[in-house]
Amino acid sequence: MQRIFSGIQPSGIPTLGNYLGAIRNWVALQADHECIYCVVDLHAITQWQDPKLLAGQTRELAASLIACGIDPWQHILFHQSAVPEHAELAWIFNCVARLGWLNRMTQFKDKAGKDRENASAGLYVYPNLMAADILAYHATRVPVGDDQRQHIELANDIAQKFNHDYGVPFFPAIEPLIMGPAARVMNLRDGTKKMSKSDASDQSRINLNDSADAIAQKIRRARTDPAPLPAENAGLEGRPEARNLVGIYAALANTDEVGVLAVHGGKGFSAFKEELAELIIAAVRPIADETGRLLADPGHVEGVLREGAGRAGAIARPIVSEAKRLVGFLAA
Ligand code: AMP
Ligand code: TRP
Repeated sequence: MQRIFSGIQPSGIPTLGNYLGAIRNWVALQADHECIYCVVDLHAITQWQDPKLLAGQTRELAASLIACGIDPWQHILFHQSAVPEHAELAWIFNCVARLGWLNRMTQFKDKAGKDRENASAGLYVYPNLMAADILAYHATRVPVGDDQRQHIELANDIAQKFNHDYGVPFFPAIEPLIMGPAARVMNLRDGTKKMSKSDASDQSRINLNDSADAIAQKIRRARTDPAPLPAENAGLEGRPEARNLVGIYAALANTDEVGVLAVHGGKGFSAFKEELAELIIAAVRPIADETGRLLADPGHVEGVLREGAGRAGAIARPIVSEAKRLVGFLAA
């Protein structure tokens, strides 16, 4: 059985983009893989997180993942900072990865923005820590949204260079799993940006804890162009906002753009948006209700994460300890 690893940052409430691009696929993969899912709090602090809020965000995200269908007993769910091997292997990878590789990372450029000099050093080496997350478990398949493709390629480069530099085929190749018609869900106010839990505008996204009214209102106000829906998907070219709403509909109705347009082509957006909002509400509300129920007992959720961290550490420890031996460190 292949081992899966994936991570998500506790930097806010997960969005419909996280759900359709990643979490929903994580749930499905549990049927025939050994899965390790991680709330990546070390990654979250590459950009400032209020220490009064971070622990709560970690707990809420874990509850939300369980509510989405992640099974923390058959599989593993834990928080990254509880397993020190991640940071330890990341340091070794900081010394394997080349500056030229990191300089090509588009997520760093997006997140650092114009004020690059003021970005944290952690944000710059973020992809090295992500490679360590995966490789500390010798995981071979990584389900992510399309925005993470470049980071997975970098993780493969790091694994290969480590193997080459230390002369042993120690780390396996990693295969990204980028699945479904909604691998990239876009911002509701600007179809050229991705939907993000850390965007300043709450109107730009659907949160997995939004009320039915909030969802209906955000979809009604979502930016579109004046033309009706096209009959064929060629008609979505150059219409990022229209394509985004069709993509979300397709993902939730388990079809594709062609399937959605065969039924809704020619309709105006107001009618289409009504139906889309209903689909989203039907998917999100049960998750929100279950998350709320789980959070009524925060100690339980924390216990689940700690137990997961115990089992994760038991897998990572011998692998990272062998990596240290290969590098030439004296045994601890
Ligand atoms: P993050 O929110 O950056 O921690 O991302 C967690 C997972 O959700 C990653 O696999 C991302 O690729 C995925 N993801 C985040 N935002 C989106 C989006 N707008 N559309 C599709 N997938 C996304
Ligand atoms: N960088 C990923 C994101 O923002 C989150 C992440 C951290 C991750 N470590 C990972 C994803 C390991 C997959 C595997 O979406």
